[in-house]
Amino acid sequence: GMDLPVVPLHKFPQYTMECCRLINSEWPRSETARLRSLECSGDTLPTCLILLKDNQVIGHCKLSVIPAIPDGCFIESVVIEKVLRGQGYGKYLMEKAEQYCQAFLNLRIIYLSTKGQELFYMKLGYNVCEPVSIYGSYIPRNQILNINISNNKEAIP
Ligand code: ACO
Repeated sequence: GMDLPVVPLHKFPQYTMECCRLINSEWPRSETARLRSLECSGDTLPTCLILLKDNQVIGHCKLSVIPAIPDGCFIESVVIEKVLRGQGYGKYLMEKAEQYCQAFLNLRIIYLSTKGQELFYMKLGYNVCEPVSIYGSYIPRNQILNINISNNKEAIP
């Protein structure tokens, strides 16, 4: 299998500019706004995780707080370098992000919102769930998915 590092951006701030370029290549936004968002990453949410390969940032995702669900988080801005898509890196990044949420943040559930990538997440075990108005970046026509990452799979209905 793969053995690439997935690390919190704030522990490796030297990758901030590269990470900014990767996210902006998919969702163009001012560099200043993007950097400000990336600089919020910390040991408590929000946390930006980066996937490194040969000392380059090839993937990113951001874990954000859901105020109403203290044992959950919201994953957003999941992106893999364009030329490297379809080779399993996205799946690897999401699995590492899950482990981080479980082992380091002690969370039990992960939510995300997507329009178009539902099958990618469902292959990873995510389930369709009810739209709820708890998200900071709630987008009405997106599908909300979640995955139970607790050891007790019956803990969450
Ligand atoms: N629809 C259906 N299946 C998919 C899709 C898709 N859009 N994308 C990947 N898959 C499948 C793959 O075929 C693979 O299946 P397999 O395990 O049976 O072989 C599996 O999902 C894993 O695919 P990876 O190769 O790991 O996916 P990739 O590295 O390409 O990463 C990602 C997927 C992150 C969505 C990438 O395509 C990307 O960066 N896209 C552009 C940005 C984007 O749309 N991000 C998601 C926004 S939603 C959010 O952030 C919560």
